[in-house]
Amino acid sequence: MDSTGHQLSLFGDDPENALAFVQSLDELAREIRRCNRCPLAEERIRAVPGEGPEDAPVVFIGEGPGADEDRTGRPFVGRAGRYFDEVLAKVGIPRSGIYITNVVKCRPPGNRVPRPEEAAACLPFLWRQIELIRPKVLVLLGGVAARYVLKDGRGVGELRGTWHGPLKEAYVLVTYHPAGVLRDRRKEEEFLADMALVARAYRKLMRQRSQNSRPKEFGKGV
Ligand code: URA
Repeated sequence: MDSTGHQLSLFGDDPENALAFVQSLDELAREIRRCNRCPLAEERIRAVPGEGPEDAPVVFIGEGPGADEDRTGRPFVGRAGRYFDEVLAKVGIPRSGIYITNVVKCRPPGNRVPRPEEAAACLPFLWRQIELIRPKVLVLLGGVAARYVLKDGRGVGELRGTWHGPLKEAYVLVTYHPAGVLRDRRKEEEFLADMALVARAYRKLMRQRSQNSRPKEFGKGV
């Protein structure tokens, strides 16, 4: 416990493995909702663990909840989220087929950028989400996700458009944050090109999955 009463050290010396005891996304969401490891917990209405299927082939990672997400407990439901939904539809990725979450699970006041110590306190949740879902692709939306997940401080303009990793067995694509594209529409063409790359990977992964799950064909007479 630090002097402000937050349990920043609760994850101990091995934060990447600190939540190994959590065995499902539901259990992890419960841990996130009762988390008090950094000051963001004090100002939240709701924590926003993330949403999507337990076996999503693609996980999208944003920065942190905004006001609408804080109110509803769901990721990407505000203005940027609605734009993101439009783009998903345009490239043919069903939102119900992917997992969406953030670097920090509670809203930074006034939508400021999460502080390094807030990200550090929260990242073990993200690592465990990735371990439980085991996605083949991670999409990092914006510079904050790139900095903390890929641990690469270069700008999105430099990192985008090509695959990185693997990281926890997933290939990683960095692209602009939808809110950044709304602020500067000149980024939209590149954002759509990146999302088309993700869509191609998503379709390929879904095809592979359906081929692998087809019942084995037995020889005649068996
Ligand atoms: N911006 C984010 O980074 N995440 C959300 O969930 C919403 C807006």
